[in-house]
Amino acid sequence: MEISIPEITLNDGLTLPVIGFGTYPLKGKDGVNAIVSAINNGYRLIDSAYNYENEGTVGEAVRRSSVPRHELLITSKLPGRYQEYDKAVATIQESLYRANQDYYDLYLIHWPNPSQDKYVEAWQALIDAKKWGLIRSIGVCNFLPEHLDRLEKETGVKPSINQIELHPFFNQAEQRKYHEEKNIATQSWSPFTRGFKDLEIDTLQTIATHHNKTIPQIVLRWHYQLGAISIPKSASPVRQLENISIFDFSLDDAEMAMISALSRPDGRIADQDPAVYEEF
Ligand SMILES: NC(=O)c1ccc[n+]([C@@H]2O[C@H](COP(=O)([O-])OP(=O)(O)OC[C@H]3O[C@@H](n4cnc5c(N)ncnc54)[C@H](OP(=O)(O)O)[C@@H]3O)[C@@H](O)[C@H]2O)c1
Repeated sequence: MEISIPEITLNDGLTLPVIGFGTYPLKGKDGVNAIVSAINNGYRLIDSAYNYENEGTVGEAVRRSSVPRHELLITSKLPGRYQEYDKAVATIQESLYRANQDYYDLYLIHWPNPSQDKYVEAWQALIDAKKWGLIRSIGVCNFLPEHLDRLEKETGVKPSINQIELHPFFNQAEQRKYHEEKNIATQSWSPFTRGFKDLEIDTLQTIATHHNKTIPQIVLRWHYQLGAISIPKSASPVRQLENISIFDFSLDDAEMAMISALSRPDGRIADQDPAVYEEF
Protein backbone atom coordinates (compact mmCIF):
# COMPACT_ATOMS: atom_id res chain seq x y z
CA MET A 1 0.00 0.00 0.00
CA GLU A 2 1.32 3.45 -0.86
CA ILE A 3 0.31 6.51 1.14
CA SER A 4 0.02 9.96 -0.39
CA ILE A 5 1.70 12.59 1.80
CA PRO A 6 0.48 16.24 1.72
CA GLU A 7 2.93 18.86 0.50
CA ILE A 8 4.08 22.35 1.40
CA THR A 9 5.77 24.98 -0.74
CA LEU A 10 9.08 26.51 0.33
CA ASN A 11 9.94 30.21 -0.02
CA ASP A 12 11.77 29.50 -3.31
CA GLY A 13 8.84 27.60 -4.84
CA LEU A 14 10.06 24.01 -4.29
CA THR A 15 7.29 21.72 -3.07
CA LEU A 16 8.09 19.13 -0.38
CA PRO A 17 6.07 16.38 1.30
CA VAL A 18 5.38 17.12 4.97
CA ILE A 19 7.06 13.86 6.04
CA GLY A 20 10.42 12.76 4.69
CA PHE A 21 12.54 9.72 5.41
CA GLY A 22 15.50 9.94 7.83
CA THR A 23 18.41 7.74 6.82
CA TYR A 24 20.97 7.88 9.61
CA PRO A 25 22.61 5.31 10.12
CA LEU A 26 21.26 3.33 7.17
CA LYS A 27 23.93 2.26 4.69
CA GLY A 28 25.09 -0.64 2.51
CA LYS A 29 22.77 -3.33 1.21
CA ASP A 30 20.39 -3.21 4.18
CA GLY A 31 20.27 0.55 3.85
CA VAL A 32 19.41 0.37 0.15
CA ASN A 33 16.64 -2.14 0.91
CA ALA A 34 15.22 0.03 3.71
CA ILE A 35 15.19 3.15 1.51
CA VAL A 36 13.63 1.31 -1.46
CA SER A 37 10.96 0.02 0.92
CA ALA A 38 10.33 3.57 2.20
CA ILE A 39 9.89 4.81 -1.38
CA ASN A 40 7.51 1.92 -2.12
CA ASN A 41 5.53 2.87 0.98
CA GLY A 42 5.08 6.43 -0.32
CA TYR A 43 8.04 8.48 0.99
CA ARG A 44 9.33 10.89 -1.64
CA LEU A 45 11.73 13.09 0.37
CA ILE A 46 14.92 11.31 1.44
CA ASP A 47 17.31 12.90 3.94
CA SER A 48 21.04 12.12 3.93
CA ALA A 49 24.34 13.81 4.67
CA TYR A 50 27.98 13.66 3.59
CA ASN A 51 28.81 12.73 7.18
CA TYR A 52 26.33 9.81 7.27
CA GLU A 53 28.50 8.18 4.59
CA ASN A 54 25.35 7.01 2.88
CA GLU A 55 24.93 9.31 -0.11
CA GLY A 56 25.88 6.34 -2.30
CA THR A 57 23.31 4.16 -0.55
CA VAL A 58 20.60 6.77 -1.15
CA GLY A 59 21.61 7.16 -4.80
CA GLU A 60 21.51 3.40 -5.30
CA ALA A 61 18.06 3.15 -3.69
CA VAL A 62 16.79 5.96 -5.91
CA ARG A 63 18.08 4.12 -9.00
CA ARG A 64 16.56 0.81 -7.88
CA SER A 65 13.16 2.19 -6.99
CA SER A 66 10.42 2.18 -9.59
CA VAL A 67 9.60 5.85 -8.89
CA PRO A 68 11.05 8.26 -11.48
CA ARG A 69 13.87 10.48 -10.22
CA HIS A 70 11.91 13.69 -10.81
CA GLU A 71 9.22 12.52 -8.36
CA LEU A 72 11.79 12.08 -5.58
CA LEU A 73 13.49 14.77 -3.52
CA ILE A 74 16.95 14.02 -2.21
CA THR A 75 18.74 15.98 0.52
CA SER A 76 22.37 16.02 1.54
CA LYS A 77 24.39 18.20 3.88
CA LEU A 78 27.74 19.97 3.93
CA PRO A 79 29.98 18.91 6.84
CA GLY A 80 31.63 21.46 9.13
CA ARG A 81 35.18 20.67 8.00
CA TYR A 82 34.42 21.83 4.43
CA GLN A 83 32.85 25.23 5.03
CA GLU A 84 35.56 27.24 3.26
CA TYR A 85 34.19 28.35 -0.11
CA ASP A 86 36.40 26.24 -2.41
CA LYS A 87 36.11 23.17 -0.19
CA ALA A 88 32.34 23.59 -0.02
CA VAL A 89 32.05 23.70 -3.81
CA ALA A 90 34.19 20.57 -4.18
CA THR A 91 32.21 18.81 -1.45
CA ILE A 92 28.88 19.50 -3.16
CA GLN A 93 30.35 18.02 -6.34
CA GLU A 94 31.73 15.06 -4.36
CA SER A 95 28.28 14.48 -2.78
CA LEU A 96 26.80 14.32 -6.27
CA TYR A 97 29.48 11.90 -7.48
CA ARG A 98 28.91 9.68 -4.44
CA ALA A 99 25.15 9.58 -5.04
CA ASN A 100 25.70 9.33 -8.81
CA GLN A 101 23.21 12.15 -9.31
CA ASP A 102 23.22 15.28 -11.47
CA TYR A 103 21.54 17.41 -8.82
CA TYR A 104 20.31 17.47 -5.21
CA ASP A 105 16.83 18.80 -4.50
CA LEU A 106 17.97 20.14 -1.16
CA TYR A 107 21.48 20.78 0.14
CA LEU A 108 21.93 22.05 3.69
CA ILE A 109 24.79 23.35 5.83
CA HIS A 110 24.91 20.68 8.56
CA TRP A 111 25.93 22.83 11.57
CA PRO A 112 26.80 26.53 11.82
CA ASN A 113 29.98 25.93 13.88
CA PRO A 114 30.00 29.61 14.89
CA SER A 115 33.47 29.68 16.45
CA GLN A 116 34.93 28.78 13.04
CA ASP A 117 33.14 31.75 11.43
CA LYS A 118 32.97 30.08 7.99
CA TYR A 119 29.27 29.46 7.52
CA VAL A 120 28.67 32.59 5.43
CA GLU A 121 31.24 31.53 2.81
CA ALA A 122 29.76 28.03 2.87
CA TRP A 123 26.38 29.63 2.22
CA GLN A 124 27.84 31.54 -0.74
CA ALA A 125 29.01 28.22 -2.18
CA LEU A 126 25.48 26.81 -1.86
CA ILE A 127 24.06 29.94 -3.53
CA ASP A 128 26.47 29.50 -6.44
CA ALA A 129 25.88 25.75 -6.71
CA LYS A 130 22.17 26.49 -7.00
CA LYS A 131 22.91 28.95 -9.83
CA TRP A 132 24.98 26.26 -11.56
CA GLY A 133 22.04 23.84 -11.40
CA LEU A 134 23.62 21.43 -8.90
CA ILE A 135 20.99 22.09 -6.19
CA ARG A 136 17.33 23.05 -6.50
CA SER A 137 16.84 24.49 -3.03
CA ILE A 138 19.35 25.54 -0.36
CA GLY A 139 18.96 25.52 3.37
CA VAL A 140 20.64 24.95 6.70
CA CYS A 141 20.43 22.82 9.82
CA ASN A 142 20.78 23.86 13.43
CA PHE A 143 21.02 27.58 12.68
CA LEU A 144 19.92 29.94 15.46
CA PRO A 145 18.17 33.22 14.55
CA GLU A 146 21.45 35.15 14.80
CA HIS A 147 23.07 32.81 12.23
CA LEU A 148 20.08 33.06 9.88
CA ASP A 149 20.10 36.85 10.15
CA ARG A 150 23.74 36.98 9.17
CA LEU A 151 23.19 34.88 6.05
CA GLU A 152 20.43 37.17 4.89
CA LYS A 153 22.33 40.36 5.77
CA GLU A 154 25.60 39.33 4.11
CA THR A 155 24.31 37.53 1.01
CA GLY A 156 20.72 38.73 0.56
CA VAL A 157 19.58 35.10 0.33
CA LYS A 158 17.50 33.39 3.00
CA PRO A 159 17.51 29.62 3.47
CA SER A 160 14.38 27.80 2.29
CA ILE A 161 14.48 25.47 5.29
CA ASN A 162 16.14 25.01 8.68
CA GLN A 163 16.39 21.41 9.91
CA ILE A 164 16.47 21.50 13.71
CA GLU A 165 16.12 19.17 16.69
CA LEU A 166 12.39 19.18 17.37
CA HIS A 167 10.29 16.70 19.36
CA PRO A 168 7.84 16.82 22.27
CA PHE A 169 10.63 17.29 24.83
CA PHE A 170 12.10 20.23 22.91
CA ASN A 171 9.38 22.00 20.98
CA GLN A 172 11.43 24.97 19.73
CA ALA A 173 8.50 27.39 20.08
CA GLU A 174 10.62 30.55 19.73
CA GLN A 175 12.75 29.25 16.89
CA ARG A 176 9.61 28.13 15.00
CA LYS A 177 8.03 31.54 15.51
CA TYR A 178 11.13 33.15 14.06
CA HIS A 179 11.00 30.81 11.04
CA GLU A 180 7.35 31.73 10.46
CA GLU A 181 8.17 35.45 10.52
CA LYS A 182 10.95 34.87 7.98
CA ASN A 183 9.04 32.36 5.86
CA ILE A 184 11.67 29.67 6.44
CA ALA A 185 10.29 26.12 6.66
CA THR A 186 10.99 24.13 9.82
CA GLN A 187 12.16 20.54 9.43
CA SER A 188 12.28 18.32 12.53
CA TRP A 189 15.21 15.98 13.09
CA SER A 190 14.89 13.17 15.63
CA PRO A 191 11.12 13.83 15.51
CA PHE A 192 10.53 11.23 18.19
CA THR A 193 13.72 11.62 20.15
CA ARG A 194 15.66 9.04 18.15
CA GLY A 195 13.62 6.25 19.58
CA PHE A 196 10.31 5.30 20.88
CA LYS A 197 10.78 4.18 24.48
CA ASP A 198 11.35 7.70 25.85
CA LEU A 199 7.89 8.56 24.56
CA GLU A 200 6.07 5.76 26.36
CA ILE A 201 4.46 8.16 28.78
CA ASP A 202 0.90 8.51 30.03
CA THR A 203 0.07 11.77 28.25
CA LEU A 204 0.92 10.37 24.84
CA GLN A 205 -0.57 6.95 25.53
CA THR A 206 -3.89 8.49 26.57
CA ILE A 207 -4.09 10.56 23.38
CA ALA A 208 -3.02 7.57 21.26
CA THR A 209 -5.66 5.30 22.81
CA HIS A 210 -8.34 7.96 22.26
CA HIS A 211 -7.55 8.11 18.52
CA ASN A 212 -6.80 4.41 18.14
CA LYS A 213 -3.30 5.32 16.93
CA THR A 214 0.22 4.60 18.15
CA ILE A 215 2.39 7.04 20.09
CA PRO A 216 4.74 7.60 17.11
CA GLN A 217 1.71 8.46 14.98
CA ILE A 218 0.46 10.94 17.57
CA VAL A 219 3.86 12.56 17.75
CA LEU A 220 4.24 12.82 13.97
CA ARG A 221 0.72 14.25 13.70
CA TRP A 222 1.76 16.87 16.29
CA HIS A 223 4.74 17.85 14.08
CA TYR A 224 2.45 18.08 11.06
CA GLN A 225 -0.06 20.30 12.86
CA LEU A 226 2.79 22.51 14.13
CA GLY A 227 3.64 23.07 10.47
CA ALA A 228 6.97 21.22 10.68
CA ILE A 229 8.30 18.71 8.13
CA SER A 230 9.41 15.64 10.07
CA ILE A 231 11.94 13.08 8.83
CA PRO A 232 11.45 9.93 10.94
CA LYS A 233 13.91 7.09 10.34
CA SER A 234 12.84 3.48 10.40
CA ALA A 235 14.54 0.43 8.99
CA SER A 236 11.30 -1.51 9.27
CA PRO A 237 8.81 -1.44 6.35
CA VAL A 238 5.94 -1.87 8.83
CA ARG A 239 7.02 1.07 10.98
CA GLN A 240 7.76 3.17 7.87
CA LEU A 241 4.12 2.75 6.87
CA GLU A 242 2.89 3.36 10.41
CA ASN A 243 4.81 6.65 10.48
CA ILE A 244 3.04 8.10 7.43
CA SER A 245 -0.43 6.79 8.33
CA ILE A 246 -1.34 10.01 10.11
CA PHE A 247 -3.54 11.86 7.66
CA ASP A 248 -6.90 10.35 8.65
CA PHE A 249 -7.33 12.00 12.06
CA SER A 250 -6.46 15.24 13.82
CA LEU A 251 -5.45 16.41 17.26
CA ASP A 252 -7.55 19.11 18.88
CA ASP A 253 -6.08 22.25 20.45
CA ALA A 254 -6.04 20.76 23.95
CA GLU A 255 -4.16 17.66 22.76
CA MET A 256 -1.67 19.79 20.84
CA ALA A 257 -1.12 21.88 23.99
CA MET A 258 -0.67 18.79 26.18
CA ILE A 259 2.06 17.47 23.89
CA SER A 260 3.75 20.85 23.58
CA ALA A 261 3.73 21.12 27.39
CA LEU A 262 6.09 18.11 27.62
CA SER A 263 8.89 20.40 26.43
CA ARG A 264 11.57 21.51 28.88
CA PRO A 265 14.60 23.78 28.56
CA ASP A 266 17.03 20.86 28.93
CA GLY A 267 15.00 18.60 26.63
CA ARG A 268 17.60 18.25 23.89
CA ILE A 269 18.60 14.60 23.36
CA ALA A 270 22.34 15.13 23.69
CA ASP A 271 22.73 18.74 24.76
CA GLN A 272 23.66 19.85 21.24
CA ASP A 273 23.10 23.60 21.51
CA PRO A 274 24.21 25.09 18.16
CA ALA A 275 25.51 28.20 19.95
CA VAL A 276 28.37 26.10 21.32
CA TYR A 277 28.14 22.54 19.98
CA GLU A 278 30.05 22.02 16.73
CA GLU A 279 30.31 19.14 14.31
CA PHE A 280 32.91 18.61 11.64
N1 LIG B 1 20.62 17.82 10.78
C1 LIG B 1 21.01 17.18 11.86
O1 LIG B 1 21.87 17.68 12.61
C2 LIG B 1 20.43 15.85 12.19
C3 LIG B 1 20.69 15.24 13.44
C4 LIG B 1 20.10 14.01 13.72
C5 LIG B 1 19.29 13.39 12.77
N2 LIG B 1 19.07 13.96 11.54
C6 LIG B 1 18.21 13.32 10.51
O2 LIG B 1 16.93 13.09 11.13
C7 LIG B 1 16.55 11.73 10.92
C8 LIG B 1 15.63 11.27 12.03
O3 LIG B 1 16.23 11.38 13.29
P1 LIG B 1 16.77 10.12 14.13
O4 LIG B 1 17.06 9.00 13.21
O5 LIG B 1 17.88 10.63 14.98
O6 LIG B 1 15.60 9.79 15.12
P2 LIG B 1 14.06 9.40 15.05
O7 LIG B 1 13.59 9.40 13.63
O8 LIG B 1 13.39 10.30 16.03
O9 LIG B 1 14.03 7.93 15.67
C9 LIG B 1 14.55 6.82 14.98
C10 LIG B 1 14.41 5.61 15.90
O10 LIG B 1 13.02 5.36 16.15
C11 LIG B 1 12.70 4.00 15.83
N3 LIG B 1 11.35 4.02 15.24
C12 LIG B 1 10.98 4.57 14.06
N4 LIG B 1 9.66 4.46 13.86
C13 LIG B 1 9.16 3.79 14.94
C14 LIG B 1 7.86 3.35 15.33
N5 LIG B 1 6.80 3.61 14.55
N6 LIG B 1 7.74 2.66 16.50
C15 LIG B 1 8.80 2.41 17.28
N7 LIG B 1 10.06 2.82 16.98
C16 LIG B 1 10.24 3.50 15.82
C17 LIG B 1 13.75 3.58 14.83
O11 LIG B 1 13.97 2.19 14.90
P3 LIG B 1 13.75 1.23 13.62
O12 LIG B 1 14.65 1.75 12.55
O13 LIG B 1 14.13 -0.10 14.13
O14 LIG B 1 12.28 1.35 13.26
C18 LIG B 1 14.98 4.35 15.33
O15 LIG B 1 15.58 3.65 16.40
C19 LIG B 1 17.91 11.01 10.88
O16 LIG B 1 17.79 9.70 10.39
C20 LIG B 1 18.69 11.95 10.02
O17 LIG B 1 18.34 11.77 8.65
C21 LIG B 1 19.62 15.19 11.26
